[in-house]
Amino acid sequence: MRILVLNGPNLGTLGRREPEIYGSTTLAEIVEAARAHALERGSLLDAFHSNHEGALIDRLEQVDYDAVICNFGALSHTSYALHDALVACERPAVEVHISDVNAREPWRRVSVTAPATRHQVIGRGWRGYLEAIDWLKQLSG
Ligand code: DQA
Repeated sequence: MRILVLNGPNLGTLGRREPEIYGSTTLAEIVEAARAHALERGSLLDAFHSNHEGALIDRLEQVDYDAVICNFGALSHTSYALHDALVACERPAVEVHISDVNAREPWRRVSVTAPATRHQVIGRGWRGYLEAIDWLKQLSG
């Protein structure tokens, strides 16, 4: 299985961004750990990060993957365009949030992209990405 991991705005500064909320692990470290986790389970992982909504949509439109793991950051709460791009790619997707968005500001409780995903992993720290890989693996059998 080829898994595309998408990270949106402000996730490139993980490690130094509000470490009390997001932890001290960098995005590069998360991607490395996720790639190793996927490989051990026979999957290839490609990762893409952008602060720009359109760039994330462009990457989704390539459809060179079998499944998606997405953390669109704050765009999860606002972007109907990313929702539509997830639907259009016709691949199973899992939404990840490092922090517990349900225990923070009320506006974070709403994800407009989640309805386009099959599963959500919320508030599990960076290891949520590994849980998302495991979920996709059990889905593919
Ligand atoms: C986040 C939660 C979002 O509300 C926030 O805007 C982020 C990160 C998370 O991983 O916990 O940028 O998606």
